[in-house]
Amino acid sequence: MTDDANDARRGDTKANDTEELLRELNASLAWELRAEVLYNHYAAYVKGIYRLHLQPFFEAEANESVLHGKTVRDQIVKHGGKATTDRDPTEIVHTTDYKVMLREAFQTETTAAAGYKKLLELPEIDSELYDAIEQISFQEQRSIDELCQLLD
Ligand SMILES: [Fe+2]
Repeated sequence: MTDDANDARRGDTKANDTEELLRELNASLAWELRAEVLYNHYAAYVKGIYRLHLQPFFEAEANESVLHGKTVRDQIVKHGGKATTDRDPTEIVHTTDYKVMLREAFQTETTAAAGYKKLLELPEIDSELYDAIEQISFQEQRSIDELCQLLD
């Protein structure tokens, strides 16, 4: 293969990697948009004595999702992508049972953490993006640990 062909191939690979990076960032953004709605929904519907603790907990998680979404969106813009405005279509289970809420929250955080883990393993990720996603990842892990305790 000529040098030009090699350069072109490297260029294609780079473009594909960037595309994949943007696809995964948008998947994480869509998941954060869903998480924001899920937590605000549960904050509104949680009933009984558990409301005292869980309403502020769900609201704090909703706010964290907004912040994560903002970080991811800003990175999509920085990398020349088009940030999604649609939330992930996975159903948000309506319930007034706090245990179901906590289980759904746990699932949501676990999926979010897996998405960020995947992002951290992509070849195209630069050090600034890696740092931003790693910070989010740590926070997701703390949420998972907290939910494990709440579900115990
Ligand atoms: Fe998050």
